[in-house]
Amino acid sequence: MSIQTQILDTSDAVAQHAARTIATHIQNKPNVILGLATGSTPVKTYAELVCLHREENLDFSKVTTFNLDEYWGLDGDHDQSYRYFMQHHLFDHINIRPWNTHVPNGKAVDATLEGEAYEAQIRACGGVDLWLIGIGQNGHIAFNEPGSDMDSLTRRIDLLADTIEANARFFENSADVPQQAITVGVGTIFAAKKVLLLATGEGKAEAIKNATQGPIGSQCPASFLQNHPDCTFLIDQEAATQISAS
Ligand code: GLP
Repeated sequence: MSIQTQILDTSDAVAQHAARTIATHIQNKPNVILGLATGSTPVKTYAELVCLHREENLDFSKVTTFNLDEYWGLDGDHDQSYRYFMQHHLFDHINIRPWNTHVPNGKAVDATLEGEAYEAQIRACGGVDLWLIGIGQNGHIAFNEPGSDMDSLTRRIDLLADTIEANARFFENSADVPQQAITVGVGTIFAAKKVLLLATGEGKAEAIKNATQGPIGSQCPASFLQNHPDCTFLIDQEAATQISAS
């Protein structure tokens, strides 16, 4: 088992390839369970999926989705919430049924119960077929910061200073940047039948090297994917500058 690394020329090519991969999964299994991610990296992929829906009738009517994470303390209608992001970039433009889209509730009364309920919902659907994820510069996946265990599940987590700093670009006031999130665990992602990680830009080059070629451990949560039976890293040339292709 090892990560399959596919290097494409540009971030546009990464997005097109990722969207085609997702579309193929939907065509092969119309009621596919997709895991989805936020962040700037998948924005173009979602735009491609919207195009495929409009131009090629890609049908999301039976698709179910689970998102990776949500800022703790933000309502879904907050314009920096991940629920809002998903509505804006994808869900509002395709024929997915709203009740089939799941994002952890950042305003849940009890984070532990919310985490358990989210895991139960994923299990009740039969598990995730394909989980699209990104990677943080510190090697986090979802909001599983360094220190997260292989068997971690959905839970509230304290964000590290460098993650809070990276997220600050999206908030007008740095004091508004959430310090916590509710995130699926490394174990939740690992349970997906297939994992597709996207990374673009040289800012991700070191994280990609550590994830694919570094030691497996919680110092770089993405490195646990080296043991996944079906994991592909789809990256552009800039994100590949510190590795050699496999
Ligand atoms: C946040 C999200 C991650 C995402 C990461 C990278 O931390 N929780 O799921 O992978 O940002 O974001 P970007 O694609 O903007 O670099």
